[in-house]
Amino acid sequence: MKNNRKFSFISAFWILLIFSTTSFAGTGATDDGYGSVLKVIIAVTAFLIAFVLWLVLVYAESNDAKGEKVITPFSKFIHSITQSVSVKDEDEILLDHDFDGIKELDNKIPPWWNALFYGAIIFGIIYMINYHIIGDGNVQENEYNQEMETAALQLELLSQSGALISAETVTILSNEVSLLAGKDIFVKSCAACHGMGGEGLVGPNFTDDYWIHGGGIKDMYRIITDGVPAKGMISWKSQLSPNQIQEVASYIRTLRGTNPPNQKGPEGKKWDFSQEETGSGIDLSDKGVGPVSSVTLSEIDDALVSSGKELFETKCSACHKVEKRFVGPAIRGVIERRSPEWIMNMILDPEKMVKENKIAKELLAEYLSPMANQSLTKDEARAVLEYFRTLTTKK
Ligand code: HEC
Ligand code: HEC
Repeated sequence: MKNNRKFSFISAFWILLIFSTTSFAGTGATDDGYGSVLKVIIAVTAFLIAFVLWLVLVYAESNDAKGEKVITPFSKFIHSITQSVSVKDEDEILLDHDFDGIKELDNKIPPWWNALFYGAIIFGIIYMINYHIIGDGNVQENEYNQEMETAALQLELLSQSGALISAETVTILSNEVSLLAGKDIFVKSCAACHGMGGEGLVGPNFTDDYWIHGGGIKDMYRIITDGVPAKGMISWKSQLSPNQIQEVASYIRTLRGTNPPNQKGPEGKKWDFSQEETGSGIDLSDKGVGPVSSVTLSEIDDALVSSGKELFETKCSACHKVEKRFVGPAIRGVIERRSPEWIMNMILDPEKMVKENKIAKELLAEYLSPMANQSLTKDEARAVLEYFRTLTTKK
């Protein structure tokens, strides 16, 4: 009997061990490796502890050398949490019911069960107070927002480090701090060849509309990074960080049309600046792709605005802030950048938009994480659009 039991325990142990190793292999692919290893270690440890406790229990009531029963502290403990009555004392708790020979014992409710029951109630009360009275109960939503915020912070750190800037994603900076930093770099490193005011010297004039390699920010970024060594313009990528290159290129852009004295004559082709200012980034005739092909706008409807605002706050604010760039672009002014149809299509079918629409593709390249489809209905998207109409850059 005892051997038999031992055997079944040892085989159970091995079966469990084998199962836990396969689950380790299975989750290893999807989970991060460290987490699943940890889980397996915890599972195996818990199992071993349980196994040892069981052995203690099994051998707890052995007889000592004199043949007297030894009651170990462990079996006392087990007895105190089960309050079970041993088989030989069952007569004492036998009720006088007798159903065709089936008898009923009046066992006490085991204390462990009571502890679990009252513990669950206490846990429930603490949980409710903690999450629904002190907190707002949106456990998952808060966690999600928290993660989004961390991700945005990481993205900000990354973009500050310049790791995200490349000739494809670089944009013109317009804030004063960056432009001053750009000016500093220009005066130190570039003015010797391009003139203090960008009027041109050995290198070309930056204040006219003529450019050899293109006057767009992306072209400038590329030339400053790689240089044109054959013509005397060196590559700056070992001396300037991507951020600094972006800053100096943005500063160069501010020199356009400043008309300094001693200008060098035009070199290269006349660059079409209108294209950059309104073209690639902003195109109000682009309606995007998706379910919406035309939207008629009339007077702003306040009721629609407030329902749109509410929708925005619940479904979109994890990624979008009105005034500042977050995971996605700042919303203020979006109505001046994009057509109403484009905005609704972006809300209703962002997957298709970032695959097929030029502006959306560029946005994805800039923001790196995709815009989530929040499964809004057309009417809801229309309400959000109405809210966006109130968020203009005009005071
Ligand atoms: C040693 C002189 C020299 C220095 C220093 C220099 N450049 Fe140049 N740069 C040139 C020359 C020469 C060209 C024209 C290259 C050509 O003809 O293809 C040029 C071209 C350029 C162009 C492309 C202009 C166009 O018309 O397409 C940009 C942008 C530029 N430089 C930016 C900079 C910046 C920014 C710095 C400082 C970080 C800098 N350069 C420092 C000599 C210089
Ligand atoms: C998971 C994050 C996330 C959520 C949630 C999200 N967006 Fe976006 N959104 C983005 C990103 C990122 C972009 C930039 C495009 C891209 O990367 O795909 C974007 C772009 C946009 C644009 C284009 C902005 C511009 O400057 O052209 C609009 C409009 C927009 N989102 C509206 C919404 C609305 C409305 C909601 C809620 C229904 C929403 N978004 C929810 C991340 C999100």
